[in-house]
Amino acid sequence: MDILKKIEMHRYEEEKLKWEGTFREYLDIIKERPEVAQSAHSRIYNMIKDAGVERDGGKKRYEFFSNQLYGLDEALERLVEEYFHPAAKRLDVRKRILLLMGPVSGGKSTLVTMLKRGLEAYSHSDKGAIYAIKGCPMHEDPLHLIPHHLRKDFFDEYGIRIEGNLSPLNTMRLEKEYHGRIEDVVIERIFLSEDKRTGIGTFSPSDPKSQDIADLTGSIDFSTIAEYGSESDPRAYRFDGELNKANRGMMEFQEMLKCDEKFLWHLLSLTQEGNFKAGRFALISADELIVAHTNETEYRSFISNKKNEALHSRIIVMPIPYNLKVSEEEKIYQKMISESDVYDVHIAPHTLKVAAMFTILTRLKEPKKGDIDLIKKMRLYDGESVEGYTSADVEELKKEYADEGMSGIDPRYVINRISSTIIRKEMSTINALDVLRSLKEGLDQHPSITAELRERYLNYISLARKEYDDLAKKEVQKAFVYSYEESAKTLMDNYLDNVEAFCNKAKLRDVLTGEEINPDEKLMRSIEEQIGISENAKKAFREEILIRISAYARKGKRFDYNSHDRLREAIQKKLFADLKDVVKITTSTKTPDEQQLKKVNEVVARLIDEHGYNSTSANELLRYVGSLLNR
Ligand SMILES: Nc1ncnc2c1ncn2[C@@H]1O[C@H](COP(=O)(O)OP(=O)(O)OP(=O)(O)O)[C@@H](O)[C@H]1O
Ligand SMILES: [Mg+2]
Repeated sequence: MDILKKIEMHRYEEEKLKWEGTFREYLDIIKERPEVAQSAHSRIYNMIKDAGVERDGGKKRYEFFSNQLYGLDEALERLVEEYFHPAAKRLDVRKRILLLMGPVSGGKSTLVTMLKRGLEAYSHSDKGAIYAIKGCPMHEDPLHLIPHHLRKDFFDEYGIRIEGNLSPLNTMRLEKEYHGRIEDVVIERIFLSEDKRTGIGTFSPSDPKSQDIADLTGSIDFSTIAEYGSESDPRAYRFDGELNKANRGMMEFQEMLKCDEKFLWHLLSLTQEGNFKAGRFALISADELIVAHTNETEYRSFISNKKNEALHSRIIVMPIPYNLKVSEEEKIYQKMISESDVYDVHIAPHTLKVAAMFTILTRLKEPKKGDIDLIKKMRLYDGESVEGYTSADVEELKKEYADEGMSGIDPRYVINRISSTIIRKEMSTINALDVLRSLKEGLDQHPSITAELRERYLNYISLARKEYDDLAKKEVQKAFVYSYEESAKTLMDNYLDNVEAFCNKAKLRDVLTGEEINPDEKLMRSIEEQIGISENAKKAFREEILIRISAYARKGKRFDYNSHDRLREAIQKKLFADLKDVVKITTSTKTPDEQQLKKVNEVVARLIDEHGYNSTSANELLRYVGSLLNR
């Protein structure tokens, strides 16, 4: 479909959703679908919930956030469970300002933007539909029309609780335009939109001295006073502050803690009592989520000021720390690159992963338990299995520090380094070494890093480099083995047959001659030696493997070459050891003979076809691994 057709379709869809009718007709709608009359907080919670919740053990993952925010599942679960959910149930937290606190570039703005865009879309859906008094600049809730003394009766009949007073403007309109006939008041369906300033607002303080409260609560329109005769005529007031416009939805308060106190007090009365004061009017009711964000330093200095105590108790702080998983960090970079102008550059496999390793290392804190190092911790956090540790250990590690993830390198820094590498060198292909080099150079220019921190970070760069060396070697060695998985499997099956015979004191049958033969001790040892199993320990190791196999069998699971970490490592090393000389010579020779050239071409082809390299990055990799093996 071409774009003009799509535009037409879109217009058609929008038209179809529109609705306008009297208050009487509106009551029919809410009788059938009471969710239409829900509060802003409740609508936001349902929007998040309706997108889907995935359960994994005791943990919940909210799908609403999952296509743009990575690795924040725990923080987001907490945010939903401790703020949005109780707020939707009209509990007290709803009356507090939601303050997201986290390190720079940790995704706070992204989160707020997702809520905004989400609400815009949700208000177009059946479940998220919103209706308002037509012609009201604050899109007031139609149910405010019901007088207070009838609200109990209304609740009995409809099961819906009404909060808030009819605004001064609509009180006047009800009298003048509708002669008090509530049932005739015209109601319309509204669609939240930040661009159109419907139900979504953003407030950003300018200079604190000159800041005008009118930006938040609206102001008198002096040009109309002559027409209406008085300043306190609500028609002479422009209800166009961000708080007015965000009614029924949400308002983002940028740089809230940098704001003047008097501004904050206005906000407080709004959140606390659900209303705010504007001009010479009675309090104006508003129903909206107010969300602000800040970093830790700013927040600490705010609460350390005694004057802010009262404010503080009306704010609910939710931490949004950095992601701590390497694989999720990689996704963040992928997303940021795909959104940039360098999206078509070839990024060699492992490049982003290695950059992410460095980043995550800067965010992790040294484990307190003596026997675990930072690299292992990094792996465990990412859900990898590390010999000797269980998921209970991971939970324990996480509990060691309450504020882990609040500092370290931010994703924007890494992306900046990656893009400057690409742009400065006019490269069309980058690899992990380019990026590590660039990250290192960047540390020299980084203004806010102390010498001590720099030392630590440089050390993390070399740790990440070591990890990369391993990955690179493995990748090349694998590519040298024709059909790696199959070779590994064959070798393992062979090993297991022998182990079984050995433990059962049985014999094997030669496949070709049918002769009975003894277990091949030499083969078994050549594998076990790869992971340092001594002559004395071999029996225990073999028995352990058999026990593992039978445990798998009992559960109906297949024991394969990935089922036992150490055995896998042994098999891999054995395969590579057999190849080592070939790899070493082939990758490092300056003048390859015909045979070697053929092998190199084969390996390069395999790296391209099966592992995602291009010819430049594959050749770079081979050269690098050659130099590693010859050290
Ligand atoms: N956990 C994450 N998942 C996905 N993207 C992330 C994550 N953390 C950061 N980003 C990306 O990093 C960039 C910066 O994030 P964002 O602007 O949301 O951070 P912020 O917390 O508002 O930062 P600041 O404190 O500087 O305002 C964005 O492109 C965002 O998509
Ligand atoms: Mg931000």
